[in-house]
Amino acid sequence: MRPLIRTARCCLSARVRAMATLPMAPAATAISSSSSPTSPLSTSSLPHRLLLARFLPATPAPAGTRGLRTSAAAAASAVEVGGVNIAREDVVKEDDPTNNVPDTIFSKIGLQLHRRDNHPLGILKNTIYDYFDKNFAGEFDKFDDLCPLVSVKQNFDDVLVPDDHVSRSYNDTYYVDGQTVLRCHTSAHQAELLRDGRTHFLVTGDVYRRDSIDSTHYPVFHQMEGFRVFSPDDWSGSGMDGTAYAAAELKKTLEGLARHLFGAVEMRWVDTYFPFTNPSFELEIYFQDDWLEVLGCGVTEQEILKRNGRTDHVAWAFGLGLERLAMVLFDIPDIRLFWSNDQRFTSQFSEGKLGVKFKPFSKFPPCYKDMSFWINDAFTENNLCEIVRGIAGDLVEEVKLIDNFTNKKGMTSHCYRIAYRSMERSLTDEEINDLQWNVREAVKSKLKVELR
Ligand code: DAH
Repeated sequence: MRPLIRTARCCLSARVRAMATLPMAPAATAISSSSSPTSPLSTSSLPHRLLLARFLPATPAPAGTRGLRTSAAAAASAVEVGGVNIAREDVVKEDDPTNNVPDTIFSKIGLQLHRRDNHPLGILKNTIYDYFDKNFAGEFDKFDDLCPLVSVKQNFDDVLVPDDHVSRSYNDTYYVDGQTVLRCHTSAHQAELLRDGRTHFLVTGDVYRRDSIDSTHYPVFHQMEGFRVFSPDDWSGSGMDGTAYAAAELKKTLEGLARHLFGAVEMRWVDTYFPFTNPSFELEIYFQDDWLEVLGCGVTEQEILKRNGRTDHVAWAFGLGLERLAMVLFDIPDIRLFWSNDQRFTSQFSEGKLGVKFKPFSKFPPCYKDMSFWINDAFTENNLCEIVRGIAGDLVEEVKLIDNFTNKKGMTSHCYRIAYRSMERSLTDEEINDLQWNVREAVKSKLKVELR
């Protein structure tokens, strides 16, 4: 499952294997950026900024991450998100060493699965909206159409992500250029919404992370961010200080949300770390015989409030991954299915029906191919996965390290097993052999590893 951005000050060289926290959607009074085009939040200046932002980043893209672009996606040349036109050449810049966005990723921008009312992600988003509408009388402003291209400042600096945090690396994040990324979390919008005077808001959107490949990881997934500000009047009569008050309110609100989604389940709070909250917690529920992490949350760091016009206030925030919860609630076994246009998938879900169990259509056989090579210092698993995904697209189900050893000369060998399987049809031997051949060639030439 996908990690929340929580590791304390880990340095860039420490490659943290994603823990399996999967990612995680209009209601009556929905205010989305598209419905308020004059809002300062509107990203209408974005293409301009993108074109101007040409400075090199502090850390240039490692050699292995350049040019990892392949042909799986025949991308459209432009898409529109929240009133912003995004052209392919604004996002995919093959000759720019500070850019690591492949066409496969560009092809996902603007699809906005969370805005489809008959899609599991849209159904889940709307169910969460219902909870907040019922319990907070429509006080929460809702945004589900904010542009996923954000500045490094928005994505990291504004939420106090340390300079050496692993999530800033080119190995983990899609950089458009030195100053612009595809947001890796919806927390990227906290500061701008606060500055815009918002005190209660929910932000849902597609987020992007370079990552490994298996049934719960996909480089694009969906999150919802919640945020609520309190003023001194709110806690003055409570006998608590602001932080304790916000933490108590947070826990009450999120326990209610978990019951709204999962019914009467057992829950527990786990202390954790996030750069943007203190204290920070994770909420877990006991579901289907196991503890399941539902979300990360906490009391917002004072510094964030102070910088954005809310000195003397306190706030709580949470972030949840929609896919992660939807996979459990709808029994969806593979994260790739969310992207499927196959009628046998899409016809099973309808608006307002949370938790209808997905009935798998016949499972087609997988085909496994192994590949061994001597790695070099620049090798990362994310770069390998990016190549495989670029060639095989959604036909790749898993890329797994099955053997790893270092010889007497100090050379390290990795053997990866690639599982190819379509969710829609049987693959022919010929097609798989072709894919594997192309993967081998690309791995050799782009990662500069020595195949064995
Ligand atoms: N941004 C975190 C992530 O991507 C999730 C999160 C955790 C959001 C705690 C929050 C929070 O607002 O308080 O993994």
